[in-house]
Amino acid sequence: MATVTSLREHLVEELNDLHNAEQQLIEALPQMAQRAASRELKAAFKTHLAQTRTHQRRVTQALRQLGEKPDGSTCEAMEGLIEEGEHLMKSGGPGALQDAMLITAAQKVEHYEIASYGTVRTYAQVVGERAVAKLLEQNLKEEKAADKKLTSIAEGSVNKRAGQEWQGRIGVGRVLERGTRWAGSTVGATAKRLKPRAHAADRSRARRSTSRSGRSRARRR
Ligand SMILES: [Fe+2]
Repeated sequence: MATVTSLREHLVEELNDLHNAEQQLIEALPQMAQRAASRELKAAFKTHLAQTRTHQRRVTQALRQLGEKPDGSTCEAMEGLIEEGEHLMKSGGPGALQDAMLITAAQKVEHYEIASYGTVRTYAQVVGERAVAKLLEQNLKEEKAADKKLTSIAEGSVNKRAGQEWQGRIGVGRVLERGTRWAGSTVGATAKRLKPRAHAADRSRARRSTSRSGRSRARRR
């Protein structure tokens, strides 16, 4: 990493980071939309994909305004967030639970972008780049709206359905568990009932063999 000597340079560095962050999202969002079970969530991801392309264009514009162009650097934070999101998606089957996981991943991404756009917008204001600040403010507003939309989908339907799915699974689990317990207790009770008889049978078998060996000993004498 080159040495940063001014806030303006730091702003350029952060814009490059955001340019790549948006690129990574342009590649990840179609897969997220495809995996979403809820029609509303699918539509939200598709809408956000179109917005993300606009965000990247605005960042390119902001860099141009500063006499720069995207330098191709990688946003490691976004790489980590997407990797974590992919890991989450692989851990659950399709349904409301996976939708909840997709929202978890998407909201972490949104909050990262909200923090980043808020910061670069303010830096642009501080260094007197009003046109740049305006572009970044637009991105910030749309990221906040996207985050709110995800919250409303989560609270409006997905969380409840994911909870019900979980309760459903727990319900089946309990029935199976009860069934196993019943089978176990039945086997146990039968074993208990059979045990005294088995003991009695053993005792009489032992008595018979003792008396037989006693008789044979007497014959030998
Ligand atoms: Fe964005």
